Amino acid sequence: MVTRPHFAHPAPTSSESAGPQTRGAIDMLDISQAFLNHGEPLPVLDHVNLSAGPGSFVSLVGPSGSGKSTLLRLAAGLDRPLTGRVYVDGRRVRRPDPSRGLVFQDPTLLPWLTVGQNIGLGPQVQGSADDPEQRRRVDEMIDLVGLQEFRDALPSELSGGMAQRTSLARALVTRPEILLLDEPLGKLDALTRSSLQTEIARLWEHQGFTALMVTHDVEEALLLSDRVVVFSPRPARVLEDVAVDLPRPRTQDDPRFRELRRHILELLA
Ligand SMILES: Nc1ncnc2c1ncn2[C@@H]1O[C@H](COP(=O)(O)OP(=O)(O)O)[C@@H](O)[C@H]1O
Ligand SMILES: [Mg+2]
Repeated sequence: MVTRPHFAHPAPTSSESAGPQTRGAIDMLDISQAFLNHGEPLPVLDHVNLSAGPGSFVSLVGPSGSGKSTLLRLAAGLDRPLTGRVYVDGRRVRRPDPSRGLVFQDPTLLPWLTVGQNIGLGPQVQGSADDPEQRRRVDEMIDLVGLQEFRDALPSELSGGMAQRTSLARALVTRPEILLLDEPLGKLDALTRSSLQTEIARLWEHQGFTALMVTHDVEEALLLSDRVVVFSPRPARVLEDVAVDLPRPRTQDDPRFRELRRHILELLA
């Protein structure tokens, strides 16, 4: 079930940059990035502007190699842009921070730690593993992602879907304001993918974070997002910022859903 969450802050569907009254607003302003490729500069992002209001769900779609992951890394504070600035709630992003959770295509779990220990890594990194409140949060996250019976399992004993659930729980255990997802379901089979889409929607409703998700799956973007931002081939520019004006829960049979899908696929063609 995908319904609007009961946030303290207003539904951000149409507002480009929600006011500073609530947390989790991200503003990426005039972002350009380039890398060196065999000694030659390779322009990757070309004056990109992207904002997401508090509690909104924004998807990024675009051709492979266009610069989507590069943009997400900048949002995380993992890299610095060549031009432009990244702000979260009006504060400049300069480095990674637990207030921005990250989920990648590969779950990147530590193989020698159990599910529970992997999820607890966030709090541990913050030096409070024995804090009962942190332990309670780990338990809560394990419940939320439905891994109670696998708490003591090792990553090698998990299916791809369970590993990605663990990775989601780990990213959310510190209660980030913003969750950055880079093709989080890209390697999963169709059935697991579909159930994890529901899972992500549920977590988003429950936790109230702002989601910025890269996906190559237009249906997935339309099922989950308030907006779908469509990027050009590299160097990425924003081709269109598409508002998904569909009630939740969404179904793919909705004529408007099909119309939006067609429109986005045409932009990508
Ligand atoms: N650290 C890096 N050094 C050099 N080139 C990079 C680096 N990161 C990404 N690139 C290049 O930038 C382009 C965009 O990459 P990426 O952001 O991963 O694209 P996408 O996620 O849209 O598929 C690619 O051509 C890639 O090879
Ligand atoms: Mg990528």
